[in-house]
Amino acid sequence: MTEIKRVGVLTSGGDCAGLNSVIRAVIHRAIWTYKWEVYGIMDSTEGLCFRPLRFKKLGISDFYGPYERIGGTMLGTINRGNPFAYKMPDGSVKDLTGDFKEGCEELGLDALIVIGGDGSMAIVSKLCAGAGVKMVGIPKTIDNDTPITDHSVGFATAREICVEALDRIQTTAASHHRVMILEVMGRDAGHLALHTAIAGGADICLIPEVPYTYEGVVNKLRRMREQGADHALIVVSEGVKTEDGQAVTVKTKDGERYSGFGTYLCNRLAEEPENFSPRVTLLGHVQRGGIPVAGDRIVANALGVHACDVLAEGKTDHMVVWKNNDVDAVPLTEVAKVGTQNVKPDCSLVKTARGLGIYIGE
Ligand code: F6P
Repeated sequence: MTEIKRVGVLTSGGDCAGLNSVIRAVIHRAIWTYKWEVYGIMDSTEGLCFRPLRFKKLGISDFYGPYERIGGTMLGTINRGNPFAYKMPDGSVKDLTGDFKEGCEELGLDALIVIGGDGSMAIVSKLCAGAGVKMVGIPKTIDNDTPITDHSVGFATAREICVEALDRIQTTAASHHRVMILEVMGRDAGHLALHTAIAGGADICLIPEVPYTYEGVVNKLRRMREQGADHALIVVSEGVKTEDGQAVTVKTKDGERYSGFGTYLCNRLAEEPENFSPRVTLLGHVQRGGIPVAGDRIVANALGVHACDVLAEGKTDHMVVWKNNDVDAVPLTEVAKVGTQNVKPDCSLVKTARGLGIYIGE
């Protein structure tokens, strides 16, 4: 077994609250317990693929400060671009595998800790295999769709922000007797919307995993009116499609992303004969910022420490997970086999939502 002396740590994919807690935990375990040197790699794999290399040597003293409380990532991140077919500024396409390997060699890295989603981990694991560097992943994403782990860092904070938004929206909905729609992120996974709808007392919740009908939405609103309700709360996940299966997206130079299903629904409800007076709030990137809640910080610290332990045991290509209130590690092959963890339409929280009378689809 190669003895580990120098470890890199990077963040990859969309940022979220709690990433600095993970980095801090890695630094503390790596340095205090294992006496490793730690290099923070800037902007995900880009810090190792391009020249000059972008990195920071990190020590305990770098964390004598508020990092446990700060959102974002002190290392920067990217959520676009394929290092195996990278679009260069001159329009050419380049495989960066060799550049990554040279970057690791130049820094003398024996291992890399990757804080990212399952997609980022799969990419970096392939790059690390080519570079002869060990790799362990730590799951993070507000979408909470990383398989096997019960919790990805960032989800708890995003959920708190969404529920607070719904709390605020409820009072204005009641004052104006309106139907209010809150669109939350989550890509193709409805975890954030489902948790928000239950905790925030919504009346309707649409998520990508459960088919719905527009008629079902309107009927629920009409029934509520008949029963005397003068306002209603709807939570929609950004990845919900129109009834005919169209994704609602925005296209920009850096790609296409979900956004606007809430507005689409709002416009349709505004056409109904009832005076629903619908309004929509697109929460957007607010969900990714702010002070991490304690739940995210606890998991961040536990997984950061465990990732170092897993490397110290000689393992590679593993993801550390939070399962049944404990840490564990699973091979990345297993993670790939299970695949992205969407909401299961028959799971207990969908049943809970139905039990509460929330319209969540057919
Ligand atoms: O995966 C995290 C996430 O916030 C998704 O919920 C959302 O669809 C996407 O990232 C937004 O990405 P961007 O930061 O590129 O707008």
